[in-house]
Amino acid sequence: MVKFSASILGANLTNLEAEIKRVQPYIDEIHLDIMDGHFVPNLTFAYPVLDAVKRCTNLPIDAHLMVTNPEFHIPKLLTIGVDRITIHIESTVHINKLISQVKETDTEIFVTLNPGTPLSAIEEVLSDVDGILVMSVNPGFSGQKFIAKSLEKIKKLKEWKLKYGMDYYIAVDGGINNENIQTVINAGANILIMGYGIFKNDNLENLSRTYRK
Ligand code: DX5
Ligand code: ZN
Repeated sequence: MVKFSASILGANLTNLEAEIKRVQPYIDEIHLDIMDGHFVPNLTFAYPVLDAVKRCTNLPIDAHLMVTNPEFHIPKLLTIGVDRITIHIESTVHINKLISQVKETDTEIFVTLNPGTPLSAIEEVLSDVDGILVMSVNPGFSGQKFIAKSLEKIKKLKEWKLKYGMDYYIAVDGGINNENIQTVINAGANILIMGYGIFKNDNLENLSRTYRK
């Protein structure tokens, strides 16, 4: 099973509703990058945009928190309602507490790590989360180049899953395109988050038919 998640940061934001409706038949979920200008060098979407996105689609929404104070935003996101919250391991010293907070609700919880953060940083929470998101670019922008070393992390996560009988999604975010998508899937990813790969793809229908299962 491979799901496509559309990162709206890669969309033409002058007409977000039309963009979401255009790609909707070919994707499984919407990925919303919440950046605060501190954790990453960019500012993006917050609650009003989340509200707007919810009004134009029924697809599940993943909120990818790239902020220095996730504890402040999690209650608000849970109140507005998202289907998944993804937290950076580098952004908190209380990951266990935040995971528990989200797990008290129906919202899925994913933990993510930057390209320079070793997998050992998230080992302790593997059995507590619904999924791990491997960042395959340094977070902040759409349209960057896939960092090939991320493939090792994806493979390792798949290996651990089988070895220890754990059940978590392996998501990958950043730089996935027509050329490397098969390699990312082969490594073990089952949620592919794509900005340019979805919104700036001339042959999205074909890509979706071939790889989305
Ligand atoms: C990067 C974001 C990604 C980004 C992906 O910080 O987390 O979701 O929008 O865009 P592409 O697929 O274009 O690299
Ligand atoms: Zn993202």
